[in-house]
Amino acid sequence: MSRLNKQRGAKPKQENCLVGNKQIIAPGYCRLTLYAPLIAREVYPGQFVEVYMPPEHQPMLPRPFSVYKANQKTGEIVILFEIKGQGTRLITAAEPGATLKLLGPLGHGFPELPSDAVLVAGGMGIAPLVFLASSTDLPRTLIYGAPTVAQLACPSSDLDMPGLTILEATEDGSKGDQGTTVDLLIRCINNVGAVFACGPSPMLQAVKKISDRAAVKAWVSVEERMACGIGACVGCAVATPGGYKRVCKDGPVFAAEEVILSE
Ligand SMILES: Cc1cc2nc3c(=O)[nH]c(=O)nc-3n(C[C@H](O)[C@H](O)[C@H](O)COP(=O)(O)OP(=O)(O)OC[C@H]3O[C@@H](n4cnc5c(N)ncnc54)[C@H](O)[C@@H]3O)c2cc1C
Ligand code: FES
Repeated sequence: MSRLNKQRGAKPKQENCLVGNKQIIAPGYCRLTLYAPLIAREVYPGQFVEVYMPPEHQPMLPRPFSVYKANQKTGEIVILFEIKGQGTRLITAAEPGATLKLLGPLGHGFPELPSDAVLVAGGMGIAPLVFLASSTDLPRTLIYGAPTVAQLACPSSDLDMPGLTILEATEDGSKGDQGTTVDLLIRCINNVGAVFACGPSPMLQAVKKISDRAAVKAWVSVEERMACGIGACVGCAVATPGGYKRVCKDGPVFAAEEVILSE
C-alpha cells in the first residue's frame, strides 16, 4: 500500500524537533530541515505542520507550513517558506541544534497522482507540490510560475525527479515563458489526467474554471490565516456551496468544485 493510502487518518502529534540544516536559498526565502520522526513517518503530500514560536515568544500563535519533503528513514521533514513577518523571522532565527515544537501532520492532503497529472504552483504554492511530485515516477508535469525569477524560490536541484516535466512562467519574462501559470495550463489542459494546484486564490479560481470547462478533475490546496490548526476555533473558514468548511481540518486540499474561491 502506498504512503498516501496507508497514512490517511493519522492523528496529529506534538514533537519537539531538532533544527537541522538551514539554508537561506534566496533573499527572503528559507529552507529548513527538522528532525521530526513521528511526523515524517505519517505525513503525506498536501498536509501541513504548525510550527510553534520559541517559549520566550509565547503566546504568539504557531504558523502553518506545508511539508515540502519528508524522509521516513532519516526522520526528517523539510519546510520551504517565505520570510514575511515576525513569525517566519523567529523561525528563521532558530539555529541548527535548537529545538522547535511542531504539531502535525495536519489536514487532508492530495489524493494519489494519476498518470499525466499536471501540478500548478504559484509562488510558494510550490511547497506541497514538490512533495506530491516526489510521490510517484509516473509521467507528470509541473507548471511553476511567479511574477519574477526572484520569486521562483524553489532550488532547481529539488525539482530534478525522474518522469517530471517542468514548465516555468514569469510575468516579467525573467525566466521561462512570459506570462502566468494559467496561460501554460490553458495550453495543455486537453491532454491531462487531473490537475493539482496550490497558489494565490485568483490562480486557483482560474485553474478551477479551466479544468471545469475541459471536464478535467481538479484539486486545490487553499491557504487561510490559521490559529489552532486542528478545527477548534473556526478561524480558517472557507465558503463552500454547502456552507463554511475549515481549511485546517476539512482541507487544505479540496476538490475544486467543493470550494468558492475569490477572484
Ligand atoms: C495550510 C497552510 C500551508 C502553508 N504553507 C506555506 C509554505 O509551505 N510556505 C510558505 O512560505 N508559506 C506557507 N503558508 C503561509 C504561512 O503560514 C504564512 O506566510 C506565515 O504564517 C506568515 O507568518 P509571519 O508571522 O511571518 O507573518 P505575519 O506577520 O503573520 O503576516 C505577514 C504578512 O503575511 C500575510 N500572511 C500571513 N499568513 C498568511 C497566510 N496563511 N496566507 C497568506 N498570507 C498570509 C499577512 O497578511 C501579512 O501581510 C501556509 C499557510 C497555510 C494556511
Ligand atoms: S485554524 Fe482553528 S479551526 Fe482552522
